[in-house]
Amino acid sequence: MKKLILLFSFLLAVPFTVQSAGGPSIELEEAGNNLRDKDSLQRGAELFTNYCMACHSVKYMRYNRIARDIGWTDEEVIAKMSFGMNKVVDHVMTRMPEGVAMESMGVEPPDLSLMSRLKGTDYIYTFLRAYYQDENGNWNNKALVGTSMPNVLEGMQRHASEEDYAQAVRDLSNFLEYVGEPSKVQRYDLGWKVIAFLLVLLLLTYLLKREYWRDIKH
Ligand code: HEC
Repeated sequence: MKKLILLFSFLLAVPFTVQSAGGPSIELEEAGNNLRDKDSLQRGAELFTNYCMACHSVKYMRYNRIARDIGWTDEEVIAKMSFGMNKVVDHVMTRMPEGVAMESMGVEPPDLSLMSRLKGTDYIYTFLRAYYQDENGNWNNKALVGTSMPNVLEGMQRHASEEDYAQAVRDLSNFLEYVGEPSKVQRYDLGWKVIAFLLVLLLLTYLLKREYWRDIKH
């Protein structure tokens, strides 16, 4: 028994040790997004189209899947995200011609399909809010110092209220979390059902066990 307790306390300690290794240098802000909020996802998809797709793709997603999941028709998703230029079965690819990014920024903008899985939704939220101008007026980013991504939301940041800007970034982070795992909400919903099923099964097997052992002296 003692050994078992020791083993379990060791296993419990593992996640904490892993968590403290690596990660960004600044404290992450909580995105506070909600994957069930379809209005937010729709706003996020439009913001992504207008502010990010010039450089970034989400190459594992097709337009029709996005439409189905966030509550648009096929026509709507093509009108809003591709301005009529794509078929609904196409993958969501940047409109930047190949090679241009390398020439102008010296680096290829990463595909954002799995960015929220890689760095976390809170990281994306924090990263987009961590741009600042140094004393010479050059833009830098506290979460990714020396980044070659320009502060593409500068105009919005300037004209919107603090709250509206935070909400826009939250919507974008929400959308990027969604594309990172499109069936996450279904997975959560299924999880409860599976646990409920197992609990019922536990009760039934317990009753069955009692029935089997009823007449046996033990
Ligand atoms: C002008 C092109 C351009 C646009 C527009 C753009 N990005 Fe980027 N983005 C980049 C480049 C280049 C990098 C790679 C930065 C680096 O490695 O320093 C990058 C990197 C990122 C990263 C990864 C950061 C990291 O820690 O590795 C995220 C997240 C990101 N962009 C999100 C966005 C979002 C969201 C938008 C839209 C609001 C956007 N980007 C718009 C060029 C762009």
